[in-house]
Amino acid sequence: MDKMWAGRFSKALDKEADDFNSSIHFDCKMYKQDIEGSIAHATMLAACNIISQSDCDTIIKGLKEILSDLNDGKLAFDFDAEDIHMFVEPELTKRISDVGKRLHTARSRNDQVALDIRLFMRDEAQEIIALIKKLLGAILVQAEANKETILPGYTHLQRAQPIMFAHHLCAYAMMFIRDMGRIEDAVKRMNFSPLGSCALAGTTYETDREMTAKLLGFDGITLNSIDGVSDRDFCVELMSAFALIMTHLSRFAEEVILWSSWEFKFVELDDSYTTGSSIMPQKKNPDMAELVRRKTGIVYGDLMAMLTILKGIPLAYNKDMQEDKEAIFDSSETVKKCLSVFAPMIETMSVRKDKMYAAAGEGFINATDLADYLVKKGQPFRSAYKTVGQIVGKCVAEGKTLETLTLPEYKEFDNLFEEDLYAEIDLKNCAEKRISAGGTSVASIEVQIEYIKAFLNKSI
Ligand code: ARG
Repeated sequence: MDKMWAGRFSKALDKEADDFNSSIHFDCKMYKQDIEGSIAHATMLAACNIISQSDCDTIIKGLKEILSDLNDGKLAFDFDAEDIHMFVEPELTKRISDVGKRLHTARSRNDQVALDIRLFMRDEAQEIIALIKKLLGAILVQAEANKETILPGYTHLQRAQPIMFAHHLCAYAMMFIRDMGRIEDAVKRMNFSPLGSCALAGTTYETDREMTAKLLGFDGITLNSIDGVSDRDFCVELMSAFALIMTHLSRFAEEVILWSSWEFKFVELDDSYTTGSSIMPQKKNPDMAELVRRKTGIVYGDLMAMLTILKGIPLAYNKDMQEDKEAIFDSSETVKKCLSVFAPMIETMSVRKDKMYAAAGEGFINATDLADYLVKKGQPFRSAYKTVGQIVGKCVAEGKTLETLTLPEYKEFDNLFEEDLYAEIDLKNCAEKRISAGGTSVASIEVQIEYIKAFLNKSI
C-alpha cells in the first residue's frame, strides 16, 4: 500500500524499517478515541465552513460504520498500516471515496495522537477509580467485622502495641483514598484539548478549537500549540499515581503473605484466591498477593520508561513519543488487573481472631500501658519505664507474662502496684483506651469508617 506521505518519495520504505516504524500493534487500542476525535473534528470543520455539511455527514456516517464494524469484529486491523490514524483514514476513503480525504484538513497526526491518549487515559483513570472504590468496599466489609478484633500492632516487625484489626485495615483505606485524589487531580490538569494544534504551529484555517474541546468533554483547550503536541506530563502524573497505588498494594500484599504464613496464621485466604503446590500437598500459596508484589516493579519500570522517553527531547513532536503508549497502557492495564484481583481476595479472606488475640497476648505489647499505670499513680514516666523494663526482664527469664505475674511479685518492684493493674493491662482495655483522634479505639474506628463510607458515596 502506498504511504499517505508517498508524494515526496521516489522509493518505498524498507520492509524492516517499515515494521520498526509502525505502532499499530499497540495504538490500535485507541481506535474508539481516534474515531470519536475525528467525528468532532469533522463536525467543527463543517460548522466553520471549511468542509460542506454534506461531506461532513458522509464522513461521520463512514466513521460510525468503521467504529461499529471494528466493535463487532467485522473489520480487522491492518497491521501493515503505520498507526491507528493511518488505518482509520484510508479505510474511510476506501468506503466513501474522495470525501474521506477532506477529513485531515487543519489537523495533523501530532495533535490527533495527543488527543487520543488524553481521551483514552481519561477513561482508564475513571476505571481505575471505580476499581479502587471496589477495593475500599472490600476493606470496609472486613473493617466492620473486625472493629474489636485485637492483634499486635508492629514496628520494625516487632510486636509493639495492641490495635484493632479494623484500625490496621483503615490505614490502607486512607492510602487508597489519597490515590483516588491524585488521579482526579491529574485528570483535572490533563483535561484540555490539544486538537487543532496541528503539527506544531497551529493552522491557517479559521477553526473553532473550543467547539471540538466541548464536543469531546474537555474543560478547555491547550493554549500553546507547541506544548499541545509535545506535552506528555499528564502521562507521567497518572503513572506516578499508578505507581503509588502499586506501592500501597504491595505493602498490603506483603502483609497478607505474612499473615497467611504458618508463623502468623492471622488470616486464611479463600481457596479461589490461592494455589496449591505440585509436590507438597499441604501448601496453600498466596500467589495473587505475591504477583501483586512483583507487578509493582512493572509499574515502576513503566514510569521510568516514560520519564526516559521525555528526557531531553527537543520541542515539538519527536518519534520517541510514539512509544509512550506502550508504557502507559501497560501501566494502567497492570494496575487494573491487580486491583481487580486484590479486592475480592481481601473481601473473601477469613480472619483468625483467635490467632490474632493469642499473638497479642505474647510479646508484652501492654508494657507501655503498665508504665502509664505507674505514671498515673505519680511516678515520672522515665522511672516507670525503667521499672517495667525490669519486670519484662523477669518475665522473660521466668517464662511468665505481665498477666500471670502475681501482685506480690509486682510489689517487689514498686509498692504503687495494686490489684487494679490487671484491668489496666487487659489487651482490649489497652486498645480501647487509645481514644486520641485517629487512634485505635472503637470510637475512632467508627469515625474512620464513616469517613470512608462518605467518600464512597460522594461521586468523584
Ligand atoms: N504514531 C504516531 C505516534 O503515536 C503518530 C504521530 C506521528 N506523527 C508524525 N509526524 N510522524 O506518535
